[in-house]
Order: sequence, then structure tokens, then C-alpha cells
Amino acid sequence: MPEPATPATPVTFPPAFLWGAATSAYQIEGAVREGGRTPSIWDTFSHTPGKTAGGEHGDIAVDHYHRYRDDVAMMAGLGLNAYRFSISWSRVQPTGRGPAVQVGLDFYRRLVDELLAVGIKPAVTLYHWDLPQELEDAGGWPERDTADRFAEYAQIVGEALGDRVEQWITLNEPWCSAFLGYASGVHAPGRTDPAASLKAAHHLNLAHGLATSALRSAMPARNSVALSLNSSVVRPVSQDPADLAAARKIDDLANGVFHGPILHGAYPESLFAATELITDWSYVEDGDLRAINQPLDALGLNYYTPALVSAADNDLSGPRADGHGASQFSPWPGADDVAFHQTPGERTEMGWSIDPTGLHELIMRYTREAPGLPLYITENGAAYDDKPDPDGRVHDPERISYLHGHLAAVRRAVSDGADVRGYYLWSLMDNFEWAYGYEKRFGAVYVDYGTLARTPKSSALWYGQAARTGTLPPVAVAE
Ligand code: FCB
Repeated sequence: MPEPATPATPVTFPPAFLWGAATSAYQIEGAVREGGRTPSIWDTFSHTPGKTAGGEHGDIAVDHYHRYRDDVAMMAGLGLNAYRFSISWSRVQPTGRGPAVQVGLDFYRRLVDELLAVGIKPAVTLYHWDLPQELEDAGGWPERDTADRFAEYAQIVGEALGDRVEQWITLNEPWCSAFLGYASGVHAPGRTDPAASLKAAHHLNLAHGLATSALRSAMPARNSVALSLNSSVVRPVSQDPADLAAARKIDDLANGVFHGPILHGAYPESLFAATELITDWSYVEDGDLRAINQPLDALGLNYYTPALVSAADNDLSGPRADGHGASQFSPWPGADDVAFHQTPGERTEMGWSIDPTGLHELIMRYTREAPGLPLYITENGAAYDDKPDPDGRVHDPERISYLHGHLAAVRRAVSDGADVRGYYLWSLMDNFEWAYGYEKRFGAVYVDYGTLARTPKSSALWYGQAARTGTLPPVAVAE
């Protein structure tokens, strides 16, 4: 259980712990046609009728492209010492190939300099789901060449920012890119082809490996290269062998498909068995696994909620929700014999159950599986239906309680021997939540979508106090 939130048992973190917030380019930047930027798959997808709630898109988003100085000042005012953001590939290399656009690189250089000037450590994610549309038109992630293009882009950004950014993340949540993008189709590019999704997963792995090598050749050796996985905590409903096998299958499709080759240099044999009717994996070429299995400097874990599964009595192909949207196509190729169940506990506005024990479990799993590899929680947070009071302030005690519970779970993992070096709250401010448009507010800072004014919620003040003191304040302090 998480530690109790009483002042008598202060939850204190190591002095060097990073207290950050995370965002991604398409979710916050806007300015989609400025500086030579061309459309990414998310521009195309969000402008396709019926793909996002209310047809919403990131054309303006929260206009961070023009307001980045104020946003950095706001983070500094709160007391954060780290910030994770992503680079828009289409801004830097608009067609996904060829020379870089200086205006695009300059934007990120200015952002980084602004952060460094106020003592906030930048962590750059190279890919948070926004593939240049031209590369999708050429085949997208199921196409091998996309991995080579990504390595070239990594090299460009590494050369441009490697002198001032120490922390690098190649991919954010490749599971979503592969399986929501190409199998269930709730995310861009919206394809529903299970064989293509597995091919995409392999090429994302390859892209990660090639980009890791490219970054290392482009940057000073002191820099750290990692990736962020949305590693699922998969729990069986019972110890019945059929339910255990169901959990194992989902674990392969959620986790093993990425950490197998990346951390251990091999795909799980059981993954091949689970997917044999869908693909023969013949696109895994000689040398690929060596290229993928690069030594890493750290691992990023994104965690929101656990999954509860069982064997299904009957074939479950058909409509189901996967957390990021509903589709009649499954994001789990080869797992139509697995049923997903409601996890117990209170829920956030996404319908995701709140369970900090899952975060502890996840951290301890990777502590065992990747011994010696420093861990960062690169995303964790909750959506609530926040509204300003008549006095203009935004009170979000549920989010404070969510953050307290999960940060206490992180601290407990540290006491249990895990090497967790930092935590990035998702998200700094309300933003474009993909298929849900602007409907779901994950921010610690409230954004008025009429004026784009930012107002720190009480959770931002609470989290800022934790960041400044290294100790979790009691949950009621900021109310
Ligand atoms: C993660 C994504 C992030 C945001 C949160 C809620 O899967 O990386 O962009 O959508 O979920």
C-alpha cells in the first residue's frame, strides 16, 4: 500500500531528484504552418472528420510556440527543476528527409536556452507520435526506410542541441504508435491492419536502435540516451492457468515486443507464437536485433493505470475500448481470446482506475529486468474536469491526491532499492489530448481555451512545493 499521507511520516526524496513536467509538441505548440513546418500524421488525422472529439486539432493548441518564454517562466516560478518536451520532426525536417530547417532548430534552441537560464534541466523526446505526413505517404512505420529516416533526423537534432541538452529520449510510447496508429486506428495515421502494426513495432524498435547510435555519434559522451515505454502492468483476474496465459500474452504484446529486443536483444518466442497467424516476422533482418539492442543510459517509464485480463470464453474480436479511444478493431493483434476487465478503484476523468501500487510494481519489475539502469518516471498524471472558481482559482484536490499517492509509491520503490532519478508529471498544462481533443484536462496548470491564459491549479502549487523542498506536502496544504 502507498505510505499514509500524514505529516508525521514525511515522504522525502533524494536531493538530486528531478521534479519535472512533461508535454509533447503536437499537443501544445500550435503554429502548425509557421517556419516551414509541414503536416504530420496528426495534422492530417485530426482534420479528418470523425477522428477526434468535436473535430478538434492542434492548429493552435495552447500556442506554446509563441508563449514558450512565459511558459518557462511559469515553470520556474512554480519551482520545477526539469522539463520534458518533444521536438516536432516536421518543424525540423519538414518532409522527413533532407536538410534541416534552421528556423525549426532555432525555436528549440531558444526554448532550451530559456530553460537552462532558469535552472530547469531539459529532456528532449525526439518522437512523440507526429510522423511527417510525407513519410506516412511513403509507407509509414510499417516501412523499413522510416527507421533510417528517423536515425538521420536524430543525428540532425543531436548535432544541433547535444551541446546543451543532456537527457535524450528517442521514442515516446512506441506501443501507441504501432498499435493505436496501425491496428485499432484510434490514433494517427488511423490504419486498421494488424500485420502492419507488428511491422511498425519492429521498425520503431529499429528506429530507436539506429537513432541511439546516431545520437551517440553526434553528441558529447556525457549525454544520456533513453526511451519512454508505456509499459503495462498486466494482472490476471485469477491464478487459473488460462488467465495467467492471457496475462502473459498481453504482457508480450504490450511490453515484451519492445523491451525484449531493446533490453535483451530478442523478441519473446511466445510473441511469435501468439502472432503466427498474422505475421511471419520475416522483416526482422540479420543484424536488426544487434542494432536495436544498444546499451542505454536510462529508461523512461510512463504509468497511468494497470490492466486486468482473463481468458475469454468466446472469441472477442469486435468493439472494445483501449483507454485512448474506442474502435471496432483491437489494438492487440493475436489476442482475441483475451478479455479486458474494469480494474477496481476510483477513476479519473479518462475512466482509468487509480492504483499507485501498479507504479511501484512497474518500477520494481524494471529494477529486476534492467539491473543498474537508472529509471525516470517520464509520465504520470490524471485528467479531471477542472473548472475555475468564481474567484478565478482552480482547485483540484483529486489531482493532488493522485500525485501524492503515486509519488509516495515512487519513494517506496526507492526505499526498496530502485534507482529512480526523477518524475515528470503529465502534464505541465491542459492540452490537446489526441482523440479526445481538448475535452480531457491533464494539466497542473489550467488553460482557458478562449483566451489561452494559464492559471496554476492548486496541484501545481502543491507539486511546486514538493519540488522546492524535496518532501511531499500533506495533501490538504494547497487548498
Ligand atoms: C500518454 C501520452 C501523452 C498523453 C497521456 C495522457 O499515453 O504519451 O501524450 O496522451 O498518455
